[in-house]
Amino acid sequence: MQLCSGNTTIELNHPSTISSKLPKNGTSIFSVMSSLANEHAAINLSQGFPDFYPDQRLMDLVTEGMRIGYNQYAPMPGLMALREVIAHKTKSLYNTDYNPDTEVTVVPGATYGIFAAITSVVREGDEVILFEPAYDCYVPAIELSGGKPIQVELKFPNFNIDWDEVAKLINFRTKMIIINTPHNPSGSVLKEEDIRRLTKLVHGSDIVILSDEVYEHIIFDSNQHTSAALYPELAERSFIVSSFGKTYHTTGWKMGYVLAPENLTKELRKVHQYLAFSVNSPMQYAYSVMLQDPTTYNGLSSMYQAKRDFFVDLIRGSRFEIQPCSGSYFQLLKYDRISDEKDELFAKRLTIDHKIASIPISVFYRNKTDNKVLRFCFAKSNETLERAAEILCKI
Ligand SMILES: Cc1ncc(COP(=O)(O)O)c(C=O)c1O
Repeated sequence: MQLCSGNTTIELNHPSTISSKLPKNGTSIFSVMSSLANEHAAINLSQGFPDFYPDQRLMDLVTEGMRIGYNQYAPMPGLMALREVIAHKTKSLYNTDYNPDTEVTVVPGATYGIFAAITSVVREGDEVILFEPAYDCYVPAIELSGGKPIQVELKFPNFNIDWDEVAKLINFRTKMIIINTPHNPSGSVLKEEDIRRLTKLVHGSDIVILSDEVYEHIIFDSNQHTSAALYPELAERSFIVSSFGKTYHTTGWKMGYVLAPENLTKELRKVHQYLAFSVNSPMQYAYSVMLQDPTTYNGLSSMYQAKRDFFVDLIRGSRFEIQPCSGSYFQLLKYDRISDEKDELFAKRLTIDHKIASIPISVFYRNKTDNKVLRFCFAKSNETLERAAEILCKI
């Protein structure tokens, strides 16, 4: 770095004493694969975002919000109208009352909600159990708080949890267990039996649950979403995180919410008020109106199930092996009949040589477990999916 003053240039030394707080982390694979896709003009099924527009009504409501005065700081926990409709939605779907005043907090995206929840309760030396493959923001958040991530591998290929293994890992240092259903990247979902086992394990302890439910409205076949809100014994110790980005095809608007009992919400808001303080007002207004209409989220499962089926039917004749997908908008494809390359290399090669980008699953594991599986996002127009399938069938 240089500082120019008149004709003199002064070299500034980088402070050599700064050591990274996250030495193992580089740029996230989502950014890496998306920019590789752009560079090589590849179809981008890597990062999880829709390539279609949100509902026109929602976009009009944002403009309306700006016009009628929602342009300054919103209240720190979120617009009351939005918190009320979130509480109402939660009651009608999961039959649990959350007080909009003290138990619902609007946040700038689920990633932020997860970070704030972890930061608000995890201290130096605390252990946090999570399941791998894991969404990439959990571990850095735990480590920045001085906590220790304790990873448990989901059992391939169904990605189910071995609760006996979890039981052996619980001890007096266990502060939190993170669950994610429907699950990214595997598309698996937790069943009633999983919830029963988890409830039993934490009974009588101070363990907090962080339930990442960003795909709560994207669940397929005969599966029902097992929100932690459905189970009073879990709800009373849970942060539940949801994302409007996933529900309303607006990942770029970065907004979500956290449900938690009053004592946990109090701590979460202490972090939130010094991190973002509040979330942009006109979009909160827009969501508060949209959310009053349950058809805006209730139809999502069938819409995405149709996309999953459309995509999967098109690639049935390919050499990729289709893995089960019960929720989320990700389809895993096993490629060991095509190549024995490492998944990161194979994914990069597909992007560069075949013009189709995906995410290698090994990046979701601490030890880079490689089951020769790639993740493809099917939140795309049918035309994009058709073009993608055509390529995949030729590989
Ligand atoms: C499992 C999971 N949790 C959290 C998030 C983050 O959601 P947001 O974009 O609202 O921060 C994502 C996004 O891909 C996700 O897949």
